[in-house]
Amino acid sequence: ASKQALQNAARSYASRGAGGERDVVPRKVAILGAAGGIGQPLSLLMKMSPHVTNLALYDIAGTPGVAADVSHMNTIAKVKGFAGEDQLHEALEGSDVVIIPAGVPRKPGMTRDDLFKINASIVQGLIKACGEACPKALLNIISNPVNSTVPIAAETLKAMGVYDPKRLFGVTTLDLVRARTFYADAIGVDVNSVDVPVVGGHAGTTILPLFSQARHQGQAQKELSAEEIDALTKRTQDGGTEVVQAKAGKGSATLSMAYAGALFADSCLRGLNGTAQTSEYSMVQSEVTSCPFFASKVRLGPSGAEEILGLGELNELEQKGLDVAIAELTASVEKGVKFAKDGS
Ligand code: NAD
Ligand code: LMR
Repeated sequence: ASKQALQNAARSYASRGAGGERDVVPRKVAILGAAGGIGQPLSLLMKMSPHVTNLALYDIAGTPGVAADVSHMNTIAKVKGFAGEDQLHEALEGSDVVIIPAGVPRKPGMTRDDLFKINASIVQGLIKACGEACPKALLNIISNPVNSTVPIAAETLKAMGVYDPKRLFGVTTLDLVRARTFYADAIGVDVNSVDVPVVGGHAGTTILPLFSQARHQGQAQKELSAEEIDALTKRTQDGGTEVVQAKAGKGSATLSMAYAGALFADSCLRGLNGTAQTSEYSMVQSEVTSCPFFASKVRLGPSGAEEILGLGELNELEQKGLDVAIAELTASVEKGVKFAKDGS
């Protein structure tokens, strides 16, 4: 009886939101860095997605074990592990969405930019392979520093003649996840009812939550003072550092990032499948500000980022925060572009 119950539960999870198993659109997702701290729980969550029929798990090593493990879950995705560079192309071929959490994480005392030296070339190498093997895939970049790795990816694809700005995304979902959690806690409402825009980039002051535009349902237990909003803003900006310090040398956010990455990838898949009203915040090529890459609300559809929405009205403090964010983000974008062009 319990086996039957488990099968029913898996079947009902697998058909959730997809209109039943018979209607599932075949979709391949590849995860690059799948044996890592983010990669493993992300592999688990994508195996649970009702939108994934084929899941390719790639890393330099360790993926046969991760693939064997999650492949036993009785959900619809067929799973295959790929290890080492000579298997990278096969992992990528036919992918609709590629999620990239490959690269080193921070230790206490480091900034995300300190990861640039190692991660810039890792991302560039993987993006080259994507440009060759699956140039039409939606690319979800998680590897830090996102503010530079996204422009590196854009320049790399441009040089190959396959760049489509609608298909390249820097994953900033964890900033939204954090802002919603902290805000709901602070005002005492159901976390599922809150919406807080977070725009800009994904490092320190480039992360700009817009609490003046926050929305929720139900009666708030508390009105927030300007000081409390300021503290929430800082906590959202420093959320990554809070986890790095708590892990004390054992890396950065992995579980909450896997959750956020799965949310974002699922939205990409729903967009590809033409599900109405799919939108997420993400760092994309943008004309919303003077910075050529900027995170704001994006409407997702069959061709990727189909519409990039503006910022709405900002209060005075948020406007000041925006100016600071744009200056720092522009410098990080330029650093990425320079690396992609001349390797330095
Ligand atoms: P980790 O060290 O646990 O895992 C990284 C994995 O990448 C490892 O398994 C490693 O073998 C693999 N890898 C390294 N080079 C590779 C290559 N060339 N091809 C394929 N795989 C390769 O690190 P983690 O905690 O999973 O973090 C990964 C990255 O994600 C870091 O750069 C981290 O800063 C970033 N991150 C971003 C966000 C975000 O919000 N965007 C959140 C958390 C972490
Ligand atoms: C995060 O926001 O948790 C990640 O970018 C990892 C980090 O280095 O903080």
